[in-house]
Amino acid sequence: MTTPATRPFGSVRPGSGAMFDRIADRYDLVNRIMTFGLDRSWRKKTVDSLGLRAGSRILDLATGTGDMALEVLRRQADAQVVGLDPSSEMLAIGREKVRKQQLEASIELREGRAESLPFEDDSFDGICMAYGIRNVADRPAALREMARVTRPEGRIAILEATDVRSGILAPFARFHVYHVMPRLGAWLSSSEEYRYLQSSITAFPTPEAFVELMAECGLESLATHSMTFGANTLFVVRPAEVRPAEVRPAETGNGETGSVESRGGVR
Ligand SMILES: C[S@@+](CC[C@H](N)C(=O)[O-])C[C@H]1O[C@@H](n2cnc3c(N)ncnc32)[C@H](O)[C@@H]1O
Repeated sequence: MTTPATRPFGSVRPGSGAMFDRIADRYDLVNRIMTFGLDRSWRKKTVDSLGLRAGSRILDLATGTGDMALEVLRRQADAQVVGLDPSSEMLAIGREKVRKQQLEASIELREGRAESLPFEDDSFDGICMAYGIRNVADRPAALREMARVTRPEGRIAILEATDVRSGILAPFARFHVYHVMPRLGAWLSSSEEYRYLQSSITAFPTPEAFVELMAECGLESLATHSMTFGANTLFVVRPAEVRPAEVRPAETGNGETGSVESRGGVR
């Protein structure tokens, strides 16, 4: 019998919400096992780098089953979090976790894509995104959107799995990513989707190239933390102070159309 988990990729784009719909039911379990439970400490470090304050409003992009959103609340009980993801199945599992912890008033999980955020400029104090940017089809668009919706003094923390290219432990890390993870994922979730994990990690830019891309999209790097011998990288950035001004027609307030500098720019 063909179940959602065993169907071949077909027309589904690898990394898309539709692909994650197929593996949602086992996603958390596979994650814990594949990372030996270490993903929790990487998530904590990511949330810590946001510099949360009382009442912070945080956007968790590619929220999936909501673990980052929940981590924010563990760190800052009065924070308000919006989690966004295109996978309705991942979100359904996340909503159940939120409901069980009675956090519905603090965490809102909604469907959407990072490339076009349904929020006003400067509407968040911070953004976190764990293992999401690798899956986004148009990364520059998503990065510009992050710069646009984050307040000037806000922080953006992007955690991503990265290829271990050098170092004494590189062969072991690569063996884990290339051979152990895809097989373990396929075995645990009876799905071929986990083959994509290895190819997407290999295809992701080096940390240096990604920092450059972020700068081109209006995000200034504050710190890059290489973790677990380079297998995970945490990028901490903020909206760049100087942005190329975008001149666009706008109402001047006296009924005439004039030109104003938008905070948008390349953001
Ligand atoms: C590996 S999961 C990470 C989930 C969660 N952040 C975590 O740490 O467990 C990647 C998530 O990216 C989401 N995703 C794929 N394309 C996306 C897009 N264009 N915008 C936002 N999220 C996207 C998928 O639906 C999936 O839930």
